[in-house]
Amino acid sequence: MGLGLSLSLLAPALWALLLLSASEETVPRVSLHYGSSERPVWWFEKDGVTNYTTLLLSPDGATLYVGAREFLFALDTSHFQPGPQHQLLPWSADKERKKQCAFKGKDPQRDCHNYIKILLQLNSTHLYACGTGAFSPVCTYLNVQNFSQARELLEDGKGRCPFDPEYKSTAIMVDGELYAGTVSDFQGKEPTIYRSQESRISLKTENSLHWLHDPAFVGSAYLRESLPPGNSEGDDDKVYFFFSETGKEFDFFENTIVSRIARVCKGDLGGERVLQRRWTTFLKAQLLCSRPDDGFPFNVLQDMFVLTPDEQRWRDTVFYGVFTSQWNKGGPGSSAVCAFAMRDVQKAFGGLYKEVNRETQQWYTDTSRPPEPRPGACITSRTRHMKINSSLQMPDRVLNFIKDHFLMDGAIRSQPLLLQGRVHYQQICVQRVRGLHHTYDVLFLGTDDGRLHKAVSVNQKVHIIEEIRLFHAGHPVHKLLLDQSQGLLYAASYSAVAQVPVSNCSLYRSCGECVLSRDPYCAWSGDACRSVAQYHLQLSLHPRPWAQDIEDADTERLCQAANVSLPIPPLLQSPVSDQLEMLPAGNP
Ligand SMILES: *[C@@H]1O[C@H](CO)[C@@H](O)[C@H](O)[C@H]1NC(C)=O
Repeated sequence: MGLGLSLSLLAPALWALLLLSASEETVPRVSLHYGSSERPVWWFEKDGVTNYTTLLLSPDGATLYVGAREFLFALDTSHFQPGPQHQLLPWSADKERKKQCAFKGKDPQRDCHNYIKILLQLNSTHLYACGTGAFSPVCTYLNVQNFSQARELLEDGKGRCPFDPEYKSTAIMVDGELYAGTVSDFQGKEPTIYRSQESRISLKTENSLHWLHDPAFVGSAYLRESLPPGNSEGDDDKVYFFFSETGKEFDFFENTIVSRIARVCKGDLGGERVLQRRWTTFLKAQLLCSRPDDGFPFNVLQDMFVLTPDEQRWRDTVFYGVFTSQWNKGGPGSSAVCAFAMRDVQKAFGGLYKEVNRETQQWYTDTSRPPEPRPGACITSRTRHMKINSSLQMPDRVLNFIKDHFLMDGAIRSQPLLLQGRVHYQQICVQRVRGLHHTYDVLFLGTDDGRLHKAVSVNQKVHIIEEIRLFHAGHPVHKLLLDQSQGLLYAASYSAVAQVPVSNCSLYRSCGECVLSRDPYCAWSGDACRSVAQYHLQLSLHPRPWAQDIEDADTERLCQAANVSLPIPPLLQSPVSDQLEMLPAGNP
């Protein structure tokens, strides 16, 4: 079924034809040019500095840490344009490393520099940073206070940061431990998901068992599935990895790419005899984003945004992914946005396993009963009840089972919420926004030609409401980062970092324009298009009616009525009881 069936019915060449005939096109309502005064965008750039690839926001949002080629920056987010308010820290690969890099046959111009790939908050006083170090990865600790290197000594970055600057890797810091998805060798042949840091034994994937096949990592996320405290399941927190790789289970076509979600448990300590210093909880499943009418698969995951509106209610998590297709090379770029529900992810990881024959590398569905406790699951109340309190106490037969049952049988499916025939999306960020009447997911999508699309998700469909050119056409949006509290979006590319407010309601000059914009951040009130946040924060003291309609935009009716009726600011209602309802159940 699914990709298997679709692929066996149609050869890849046919997919290419189908794709070229596809005329999906969603035209943005508002399109703004480079440097348009209507929509303020600030750019940070510095002569001679290129490849802005890593973005990290300080917890208070006042500083944006940026990693580029041979440079780190601490940018003042309140005055974003170039100036003396920013701090700069050169971090280049030393001469010896550069010499070695060139000597080993790498391109001195392209490869033999320190490209900063990892920039993460370690604790309140330090950041952790890694760079490719001229094909010899290195890591360091940075002092937040004075933005300087905290130790003279560099750490070996092998297994954390890739050697090759073009390689797609991911890393996330969870309670002072680094989880990384990367390659751990010079040739780029040894993919690994690795957990390291001083406190516990390090763990990684087992290479000889081929748990990963040429993965291109696009992201990782930490979900606190142990919450709420004291619940009866007693599950563990998990770290998820998102990537595309060669789908060895589809062996009837060479090099079929599939997208994956993989997970490990935070409490994993590896096995005692079997799987020593290896993950005992590594499981992966297929993410399948395909067109509903013909099953055309968008099989290459480009980026994933994990939307968890409330940490306690992690079960409501939505995984928003942007996908492209392997079968449209040379044709117009096309892409799709899919959203996967947490319950479907859990269903896949709790369902049947696939089994690999280690000799032939052939895959089968294993319909037999798996051993107990369930292989690859975290330690839960149930396992503890069986007197198994850590992975070190897992029975050998459970761990041996995992060695060839690390791929789930069921795929996690979604139909595209948005299909684009001529746009190649590379990056996605999502904010759940409280509109005037309802809550909406607003998507920010970065393209491979320097544009930003802002879109709103309504009834399982996505409408593009704005297009802003952030960079020149040859410059892809490499990274997007959302500052939800300040309402700012950051985008990084080859030669600059851009800062753009999530909305600019004053752009819409009449009630008609404002309502038709379908922008959940904006609503018409009295004489202007204003930020809905003002309504919710009760900043406007006049009981002016407000007008917004994201769903069908019956502008005329609304704008006529805007003079007389419609919602009264919450000041005159009972805001206290409204807010109490917003609190998650069981909060003290
Ligand atoms: C660095 O930037 C150049 C363009 O200035 C681009 O061609 C190259 O692919 C970039 N490399 C990485 C690793 O982003």
